[in-house]
Amino acid sequence: MSTYQSFKDLPSLAGICTMDEAMKPGLSVEACVARLKRYHYLLKRLHQVFNNRLTSEPIYELKMGFSLHAHYCAEHVAALRKRVGEMREPPLGLEAIPHPALEVFCDEILAAPATEQLLLGIYDRALPALKTALEKHIADTNLLADHPSVRICRFALLEIEEMLRYGEQCLKSLVTDAVRQEAQPWLTLLDDCLASAGGLDGSGAAVEKTLTRQHSAKPYQYDAVPRRDERFPDPYNMGVNAEVFLYDESFPATPKTLMMFYKRLREIDVPEMMASIIAETPDKPWDYYRDMTRQLWDEARHAMMGEVGFANLGIEWPKQVMINFTWSLALNTQLTPLERHAVLYFIEQGLMPRTGKRFEWEVGQASQNPLSALFQDYDWADEVLHARVGRDWYVKQIGDAKKAVDYGDECWSKVLMNWETWRKEGKTAHRNWWPEVYAAACKNWNVAPDPAVLSYNTTYETVRADLKNLVGSA
Ligand SMILES: [Fe+2]
Ligand SMILES: [Fe+2]
Ligand SMILES: [Fe+2]
Repeated sequence: MSTYQSFKDLPSLAGICTMDEAMKPGLSVEACVARLKRYHYLLKRLHQVFNNRLTSEPIYELKMGFSLHAHYCAEHVAALRKRVGEMREPPLGLEAIPHPALEVFCDEILAAPATEQLLLGIYDRALPALKTALEKHIADTNLLADHPSVRICRFALLEIEEMLRYGEQCLKSLVTDAVRQEAQPWLTLLDDCLASAGGLDGSGAAVEKTLTRQHSAKPYQYDAVPRRDERFPDPYNMGVNAEVFLYDESFPATPKTLMMFYKRLREIDVPEMMASIIAETPDKPWDYYRDMTRQLWDEARHAMMGEVGFANLGIEWPKQVMINFTWSLALNTQLTPLERHAVLYFIEQGLMPRTGKRFEWEVGQASQNPLSALFQDYDWADEVLHARVGRDWYVKQIGDAKKAVDYGDECWSKVLMNWETWRKEGKTAHRNWWPEVYAAACKNWNVAPDPAVLSYNTTYETVRADLKNLVGSA
C-alpha cells in the first residue's frame, strides 16, 4: 500500500499517525485492557501512598508535592477507569489486583520506613516504571484503533514527567549516596516484584523470583498524627486570633492582608486532615476520592498562596509567623472520619455568607496588595467548589441539609482545644508574634506602624476560628 496517497496531500487519518503506523497489528482489546488495568492499579496505589503519607511527612515542601501528586493520580485513575469501561469489559474488575507481585511492590512503598526510602520507592522506581509502560503502550498499540487509550496515556505522561522532575530534585536534595546504598536490598526487592509481574504492564516474560516482604512484612498502619519540619517551631501556638482582627472594622485593610496570608498558610492543616478522611474511608465510588483529593490539593495551594504572600513582603514566615497544627491534630486524633468531614463541611458553609470569602476578597481589593486580592479571588472560587463537594458527598450521606450542618456544629463543639493545658505543659507560651510581623511588613511598605494595629493582642483562648465563643474547654 506504499503508493497510497491522500487527497491533495492533506493529512490522512486526522493527523494522528501515518498510514504505515495504522497498518500494524498493535494490541488486541483484551491485551490493551490488561495493560490499562495495571497502570490503573499502580496509579490508584500511588494515590494512596501520596495521600496516606502526607500528614505524617514533616517536610512542608513534600506535603505540598504529595498533595499535588495525589491529585494527579486520582485524575488519571478516573480517566483509566472510564476508558476500561468503554472496552467491552463489564464486569470491569477494576478493584482486582492485576498481579500479586504488584501488590507487594505497592505495599512496600506505602510502608517505607522514612522519607528517603519513600522518595526512592515513588520517584526512583514506581513512576519511572509507569513512564516506561505508558511510552511502550503508545509504541505497541495501533494508534488509530486504540486512539482513546493513546490520548489518555499521553496526557498521563505529561504529568508523570512533571512528577519525575520534581522527584529527581527531591532525591538530589534529600537522598545521599550512603542512604541509597543502604536501601539497595530493598530497591532490589522492588525490581524483583516488577520482574515477577512481567514488568509493570505485564508485556514481558515473568521472571520467577522469591519475594520476601521487608517494610510491609508487618502490615502497614496509617498514621494520622500531623508532623511538621523545623520551620514550625511553635505548632501549638494559638496566640494570634486572625479572625477577630479581620472582622474588626476599626482596623485598616492593609495589615489585614497579613492575617489573610497567615490564614492561607495555616490551611496546610486542611490537607493534613482531609488526607485522614480519605485514608480512613474505604469503599466509596472513585469519584469520591477524586473530588476529595482535588479539594485537598486546593487547600495545599491556598497554603502556598500564603507562603508566596509572605515571601513577597520579605517576611520570613518560619521565624516570624507561628503556623500551628492544632486543628488537624485535634480532628485527626479525636474524631471519626465522618465527624471530621462534618466539621469541614460546617466550617466551609460558614465561609459562604457575606462575612466569609467575599469579605476576604473585598479586604484584598481594598488593600494595597494586588497579590492578596488575586489569591482571595481564587480562594473564594475554590471554596465554593468545596461547598459543592461537601453537598455531593457528606450531605448526601447524612441525607438532610440541616441535619448535616447541625451535626458538623455538634462535632466541632466537642473537639477539645486544650489552650490552657498546652500552655501549662510547656508545649507553647502562645507568644503573640503579631507585632513583629506587622512591624516587618511596615518596614517593607515604608510606613510607620499604626499603634492600634501594633498592640493587637487577642488569642484563641476564648474565641474559636469561626468566631463562636468557646464554652469551658470545648
Ligand atoms: Fe480551605
Ligand atoms: Fe482556602
Ligand atoms: Fe476548602
